[in-house]
Amino acid sequence: MDKFVIKGGHPLTGSIATGGSKNAALPALAAALLTAEPVILRRIPKVRDIRTMQRLLVDIGSKVEGGPESVRIETPEITSPEAPYELVKTMRASSLVLGPLAARAGRARVSLPGGCAIGARPIDLHIAGLEQLGAVIYQSHGYVEADASQGLRGATVHFDKITVTGTEDLMMAATLAEGTTILENAAREPEVADLADLLMKMGAKIEGAGTSTIRIEGVQRLGGADHTIISDRIEAGTFLIAGAITRGDLLVTECPIEHLSALIVKLQQAGAEVTQQDAATLRVRSSGALRSVDITTEEYPGFATDLQAQYMALMTQAEGIAIVTETIFENRFMHAQELARMGANIRLDGRRAFIAGPRELTGAGVIASDLRASASLVLAAMAARGETVIDRVYHIDRGYEKIEEKLARAGAQIERAD
Ligand code: EPZ
Repeated sequence: MDKFVIKGGHPLTGSIATGGSKNAALPALAAALLTAEPVILRRIPKVRDIRTMQRLLVDIGSKVEGGPESVRIETPEITSPEAPYELVKTMRASSLVLGPLAARAGRARVSLPGGCAIGARPIDLHIAGLEQLGAVIYQSHGYVEADASQGLRGATVHFDKITVTGTEDLMMAATLAEGTTILENAAREPEVADLADLLMKMGAKIEGAGTSTIRIEGVQRLGGADHTIISDRIEAGTFLIAGAITRGDLLVTECPIEHLSALIVKLQQAGAEVTQQDAATLRVRSSGALRSVDITTEEYPGFATDLQAQYMALMTQAEGIAIVTETIFENRFMHAQELARMGANIRLDGRRAFIAGPRELTGAGVIASDLRASASLVLAAMAARGETVIDRVYHIDRGYEKIEEKLARAGAQIERAD
């Protein structure tokens, strides 16, 4: 199992490029199931979760051809409308095929995701929404089965809780439903708007994506499209925090600046200099003392929960006590204990973490527990004195493409060891 070996104390300099968004690419791949015609997707990140989704599409009946710049998906026929437990247990985003399969094939059998390191994460809102669109739902043997052999019908779906993939799943299903669907209290994440852009290129009729009310008028059939995926705001945010925590001077390019306002404000309040160089380049510099600044994670456009762990690592180096409140997931502080092993002073109290700093971090053996927790450990290790060995980096490979190579080119002392 791969590990990262990191020697800390090296400020990041030069530039680092942001790749395509994992969380925009996953629903875009599922959307290709809605048509028999080819869908070409560009800037798909080469990360493990994407490979899992591509394998799932092939199992379902798609032909998937990956090139250096793009992926071509063609699904003349859905031969097996199923997402098996073996795949769903490794990546819960597999449940994104539920809506497209029910809409295109009239039925779907998808494994229920089960528990996750960061929280319960049920898909009850996906299922309830599909039921409102007229699907008959059965649950047995760990699977949800949706029968939509009579076709789906438009309806008004109000989400009790804002859900990103729930919004995406229902939006996809509604594109082929008879009549109009209104999604209320929908997620406003940029990945939802990017998916709507793709669906509209395929011929869907969608209004209001990116707002909390989305209106979809169903059509008979969808066609093919050629779509470039947006940049990954979470990867870019991770690099901005890396520049600040290492006291570096770093350019983050291909950066979706407009999707990062909540983070940029907090970094500036903490004393890092974050300046725009051009339409898609941010410069982050930090030399003096950092100040502790509280955050509360929220749905977009609030502070992203997927940047909380990385931000916590930064606050271990800030003067004062920072309070980090996690409102989206009930168990997303696994990284705190590992940061404490490196010398951080963090006290947990339910969904709040109190980080007292600055504390010198020293290199240690630590274990990654999930995707963003592992990114937080990489950042802490780059700021620590001495050598850190991070175990189970397969977590980070799920969502960051060759992160060690990107960071090494910007001056980090980081190696992947088998
Ligand atoms: C998406 O997950 C992202 N994943 C997550 O990123 C991200 O953390 C999350 O949104 C929040 O921003 C992808 O886009 C593939 P939710 P998702 O449904 O859609 C509860 C990463 O690091 N809920 O918006 O699964 C749920 O338990 C990953 O890249 C229900 O109760 O998250 C949570 O508390 C991690 N019932 C809250 O809503 C449901 O049916 C928000 O979850 C659905 C969700």
